[in-house]
Amino acid sequence: MNRYFFCIKHTLLNIHYLKNFIRHYAISTFVDVLHSPFVFELYEYCIKKQKHAPAIFRDIENVRTRLIKNKQTLNYTDYGANSKQTGFSKRVKVSTLARNHLKPARIAEILYYITHHYPYQNIIELGTSLGITTSYLATGAQTHLNAKLHTVEGCSDVHGIAGEVFKQLNLGSAIHSHLGNFNTVLPKLLEEINDLDLLFVDGNHTCEATLDYFNQCLLKAHKDSLFIFDDIYWSKGMTQAWEEIKKHPKVTVTVDLFFIGLVYFRTEQVKQDFKLRVI
Ligand SMILES: C[S@@+](CC[C@H](N)C(=O)[O-])C[C@H]1O[C@@H](n2cnc3c(N)ncnc32)[C@H](O)[C@@H]1O
Repeated sequence: MNRYFFCIKHTLLNIHYLKNFIRHYAISTFVDVLHSPFVFELYEYCIKKQKHAPAIFRDIENVRTRLIKNKQTLNYTDYGANSKQTGFSKRVKVSTLARNHLKPARIAEILYYITHHYPYQNIIELGTSLGITTSYLATGAQTHLNAKLHTVEGCSDVHGIAGEVFKQLNLGSAIHSHLGNFNTVLPKLLEEINDLDLLFVDGNHTCEATLDYFNQCLLKAHKDSLFIFDDIYWSKGMTQAWEEIKKHPKVTVTVDLFFIGLVYFRTEQVKQDFKLRVI
């Protein structure tokens, strides 16, 4: 069974997620991408399961396995949608975070192929967690000279472990890892760059926060930018944010992979929403 079906418990307990999952697989397609050469290329090179996986995938997955076995506890300070109050702290095992917070390998691979295939230069990830998905993004981006990946994490202990992960994978110099709340770090990062080429939002899954990050980043988007939102069916609020983003006049193409949603601003293309299957 594919690894992205890992969260069966979450799926069964979350009626909104389950309903949308069934709907997505009933109406999504492989075929309608043929009408758009741009989306066809995206599907062929990034979304479709590739025949030969680079060796680094195995290295990253070995690190993930070690994290899943790590029973050490840390002080987890939550600034996201799950926190009862912002900055609420509790003791959590590294293994618990590694099992519940990280994108499964199949989705992380897609993110690798996206940064590998397209020459995105300025990349921002909101939500580093233990750094597994960041490592996929960074490894793909290393293909392109001058690509710069910034990742932001609010919890200090988690940020520390992500730093160790980057060192273990020899990615220390490829990743600019920032500690702090998205609310304070994101505006500073955006101030420093002229263009934002790729944004991956994987943290603080509320409708309000997601739309806020979208609107802030939109000011630095250009016609070839890509914004990716994680967990667009995680809650009614996230689906509402996704629907509003799709309707935004600057958004042209969107690609809904159920687990993540891709947003493009290509002026040369008519507005069109795709729903594709990840298998
Ligand atoms: C789902 S995890 C990210 C998983 C990671 N992208 C991966 O797949 O490897 C979300 C992370 O975002 C962080 N986070 C959530 N809201 C935040 C905020 N407002 N500011 C800073 N960090 C935040 C959480 O501490 C958590 O570690």
